[in-house]
Amino acid sequence: MQYYNENAVEYAEKTLPISMTEQYEKFLRTLPQNGFILDAGCGSGRDALYFLKNGYKVDAFDGSDEMARLAGQLTGLNVKCLRFQEYTPRPIYDGIWANASLLHVPHEELHDVLAAFRKSLKPCGTLYCSFKYGKEDSVDAHGRCFTNKTCEALDKDLAAAGFTARRSIALQKSTTPEGAPQDWVGALAIAPD
Ligand SMILES: C[S@@+](CC[C@H](N)C(=O)[O-])C[C@H]1O[C@@H](n2cnc3c(N)ncnc32)[C@H](O)[C@@H]1O
Repeated sequence: MQYYNENAVEYAEKTLPISMTEQYEKFLRTLPQNGFILDAGCGSGRDALYFLKNGYKVDAFDGSDEMARLAGQLTGLNVKCLRFQEYTPRPIYDGIWANASLLHVPHEELHDVLAAFRKSLKPCGTLYCSFKYGKEDSVDAHGRCFTNKTCEALDKDLAAAGFTARRSIALQKSTTPEGAPQDWVGALAIAPD
């Protein structure tokens, strides 16, 4: 969390311009019009703002005080500073969007977080989550620890957390702000009906 607190403005500037159009389309296609979305680990608030502008009702939180503050400024939402591990589920959301955020949850804590998200979805609600692709975990030059996933490992985790259908578990290619290639695993997982 220290990295995000200390580099919040710079991080927001780097990530606000990233286009998520393809992922938005796949996720929003599964939701009712004007449905209720939780942006979990919202960072700059880029995606929460997009959902708001497109007529959805949005909640957002982030584990970093500074990121939550910036996201609040950008979106006008009351963005809470909250860690995934402290999140208490309420079955009110049509969709949960966790883009590149659960990747900071250690493997041994991920099951409980995914299960809490599943309990926060209405019947047949959708979780979108994404991780860096990898068989091994990694640490970057800033000291950030990443829990990495293969498609198979993520599918197994989502099934174990009670998601009855997993869709579009697919590799996505992108480029880091520094220009290096980066593979991602993105998943849409559906809560039971
Ligand atoms: C790689 S950034 C992604 C931010 C945003 N979702 C996006 O796509 O731009 C990871 C975000 O997760 C937040 N985060 C890291 N660990 C967290 C935790 N345990 N609980 C809640 N948020 C966390 C960080 O503060 C950061 O904003």
